[in-house]
Amino acid sequence: LLSLGLTGCKSGGGDTIKVGEFASLTGKEATFGTSSHEGTLLAVEEINAAGGVLGKKIELLTEDDQTKAGEPANAVNKLISKDGVVAILGEVASSRSLEAAPICQQGGIPMISPASTNPSVTQVGDHIFRVCFTDTFQGGALANFATEKLNAKKVAVLTDTKSDYSKGLAKNFKEKYLKNGGQIVTELDFNGGDKDFKGQLTTIKNAAPDAIFLPGYYTDVALIAIQAKQLGISIPLFGGDGWESETLLTIGKEAMNGNYFSTHCAADQGTPKMTAFVDAYKKRFNGKTPDAMAVLGYDSAMVLADSIKRAGSTEGAKLRDAIAATKDYEGVSGKFSLNADRDAVKALVFIKIENGAFKYSATVNP
Ligand code: PHE
Repeated sequence: LLSLGLTGCKSGGGDTIKVGEFASLTGKEATFGTSSHEGTLLAVEEINAAGGVLGKKIELLTEDDQTKAGEPANAVNKLISKDGVVAILGEVASSRSLEAAPICQQGGIPMISPASTNPSVTQVGDHIFRVCFTDTFQGGALANFATEKLNAKKVAVLTDTKSDYSKGLAKNFKEKYLKNGGQIVTELDFNGGDKDFKGQLTTIKNAAPDAIFLPGYYTDVALIAIQAKQLGISIPLFGGDGWESETLLTIGKEAMNGNYFSTHCAADQGTPKMTAFVDAYKKRFNGKTPDAMAVLGYDSAMVLADSIKRAGSTEGAKLRDAIAATKDYEGVSGKFSLNADRDAVKALVFIKIENGAFKYSATVNP
């Protein structure tokens, strides 16, 4: 019994608290994983500099899932079974969070997604949380934006069928937009990674919408915007948080100007917490401005540390209950509480792309 007490406990007994992270550090959505990782790392460094939690330092174990289906499962299996982590942080993309979540749930290891917005992610089970809003909220906000701000009576929708995020956001947008009295003139799709969108864009042009909704990720969106311009399409394009990456601008260039997207927060939104975070992040990462994934990565690690403190333990069920009790948390991304579905209830922001840069434009409260 004594020896069990000393050596039998995989994670609680060591000198550090092991936390796992899986992220797309390479591959098609590399900026998502790089950003969320940097935010997460900065949080862990700050926590450890302040003495750690429960008298121990946090040890962050990071796995690269390479933006590839199949890899999130490998990463999380390794982190849980081999490394003995007490909790998992990740992922940004919903499809990859959905792949890992059942493994965390079955292993009794809490998982906090920084940025996956598809509603089904946290529905996997009571160990799965997120520190971001869901696409039920984001899709509704985008529909109201199309109706009220763009004055669009008719919209075309172009969805990435490879992405749970894209399909879900398209569905949530559509429900609210139709309720608003809007009309969807054409609904088309593509496979993330496609290079030629001229066929779909020609159909869209002929359907004469007032705006095009693109619930996709930045690499595809940038190419779609360029090809739309080449076909003489000059109506606004708009989308959700999947647009957010500097790479959207480096690939899409002028074709991105005058378009809009919703996301979690903006570096220039002017809140004191954000301003302080931007300074700290720039200092740590060579002057780089943090994007929403960086902010949410930071908030996810901070919520976990706060929950470990309140639980007074890293034991799965206790930690799960403490995360679930997160209330009025003052995150860098804004103030939020986790609801009964383990989703954060919080505001979103709209960004306008102007002169090749992201400009904060408005906040929408839940
Ligand atoms: N919300 C997206 C998804 O669920 C991921 C994302 C978050 C992308 C934040 C950009 C910014 O797949």
